[in-house]
Formats: sequence, structure tokens, C-alpha cells
Amino acid sequence: MTQEEVHVVWHRQAVSRDEREKLNGHRGCVLWFTGLSGCGKSTVANVVDHRLHQLGVHTFLLDGDNVRHGLNASPAILQADHDIEFSQRFGLGFSSQDREENIRRIGSVAELFASAGLITITAFVSPYRRDRDAVRRRIEQSGSQGDFLEIFVDAPLEVCESRDPKGLYKKARAGELKNFTGIDDAYEEPERPELRLASAEQTPETLADQVIGYLRQTHKIP
Ligand code: ADX
Repeated sequence: MTQEEVHVVWHRQAVSRDEREKLNGHRGCVLWFTGLSGCGKSTVANVVDHRLHQLGVHTFLLDGDNVRHGLNASPAILQADHDIEFSQRFGLGFSSQDREENIRRIGSVAELFASAGLITITAFVSPYRRDRDAVRRRIEQSGSQGDFLEIFVDAPLEVCESRDPKGLYKKARAGELKNFTGIDDAYEEPERPELRLASAEQTPETLADQVIGYLRQTHKIP
């Protein structure tokens, strides 16, 4: 494919981020949960989302399993409404390049939601450090330092594998599922996450309390 030059010019919008945040009564930011499949990311993220909502904070949760049904659907899902070429080109699986694009798209959506003044919560395995760091840079550039909080939901592989809520570890061990994170694909742990949650040792409610405590301490929420 030849490289086409595309002419697009950024257009300044009439309502600023500051104005949206003033209306909401708090700033937007991104809470980026990362960790192995089955570590409890989605569960804790949902508790945090619910608690913040009850506190009157404007939030939105982007969850891996849901986003992979729509925005980042697989080629097989897309084939229901599109031809094979289109489905292959835009559908995403779990190769390292597909994960890179998954995280890039989510990072972009999270950036938009944060600039709409929402506390944007994401729960994706996001196994590669480089991809997470790229999102951090993007969010910090469009907002400010401290707008991207990396939350490492840390549970040993053995614990995640013994939970195996979707039976996927079993399939990966049997060789029926290739490139499964933690089995035959890497999970690169965050080096300096803003928060580390010991999810094998505590309940989702206690872990969510830690997140809410951190948000209060850093004045992200009133
Ligand atoms: S990511 O690696 O691109 O960030 P994402 O969070 O969207 O992954 O999706 C992960 C979910 O897809 C897992 O919780 C699991 O249910 C499922 N899944 C299917 N295949 C794989 C795989 N090869 N590696 C990891 N998760 C997989």
C-alpha cells in the first residue's frame, strides 16, 4: 500500500476542557487498570466506578471484553456486516501488533473521555509496557502531568490460573489458544505504577477503597 498524504487540520472547539470540568465539579483523568486475565481488573474497576458514581463523580468504564465486541471487534465479528478484506484489515485479535492497536484506540478514546471531564476507567490486560507508556504520554500531553494513573492489579499467575473464570488458561495450556498472556505471551509488569493492588490478598471492595483513598489524597475527587 502506498503512503498517502492526508490533510487534516485540528479545529479548536467552542467549549473548553476547563469549562466542562468546572461544570462537573472535578477534573477528568484516566485510571488505567492493567494485569493478567483473571487478576480482578474488571471486578475492582466496576466497584470503583460504582462508588464514584454514588459520590456524584462523572465516570465511564471501558472494559476489554466489552470493547472487543464493538470498537475493537475481531475479524470474525466484523464479517457479519463487512467483507473479508475489511474484516481482516480492521478487526483485532491478540498478536502483539493487534494488542498495540487495541491499546492505541482505547488510549485515544480514554483521552477524549478525560477531556470531556470524566474520570475514565479502563480495564485491559495491556501487557506491553511500551503501549501503556505511549498512552500515558498522550494523556499527559493533552491534559497535564498526573492525568494518567497506572493501577497494577497484581495477582500471581497461579492464582489467576486457578480462578480461570472463562476457562481460557485451560485452553491455553492445552495448546488450543495461542499467544495467551502469562502462558506463551509476555506480561510486562509496570515499573512505577501509581498504585499496586495486591489482588490475591484482599477483597475487591478493600482494593477499591485503596483507589478511592488515593483519588482523595491526590485531590482528583472532592
Ligand atoms: S489486550 O492484551 O489487548 O489488552 P484485552 O484486555 O483487550 O487484551 O482482552 C483480554 C481478554 O480477552 C482476556 O481477559 C481474555 O478473556 C480474552 N483473551 C482471549 N485471547 C487472549 C489472549 N491470547 N491473551 C489474553 N487474553 C485473551
